[in-house]
Amino acid sequence: MKLTIDNQVVEVLPGTTVLAAAKAHNIYIPAICYHPEITPYGGCRLCMVEIEGQKSYPTACTTKAEEGMVVRTQSKRLQEMPP
Ligand code: FES
Repeated sequence: MKLTIDNQVVEVLPGTTVLAAAKAHNIYIPAICYHPEITPYGGCRLCMVEIEGQKSYPTACTTKAEEGMVVRTQSKRLQEMPP
């Protein structure tokens, strides 16, 4: 499936998270609590992204990539969010 992350079209297998999709294509998303050997739980919230059409800011480590999804890892709204 194909999705867009920071204006870059990337192709991943179904079931891939947004974080893994970004990482596989050298797109940096900061992540503290993610570890490949434990189930992602979205604890640190550092990997929040903006996804077109969604009002909330999901965590990239717990969000599965979807066909046609448009993701932004950096935006004014994300940067202005309180810690
Ligand atoms: S890496 Fe911590 S919430 Fe995603």
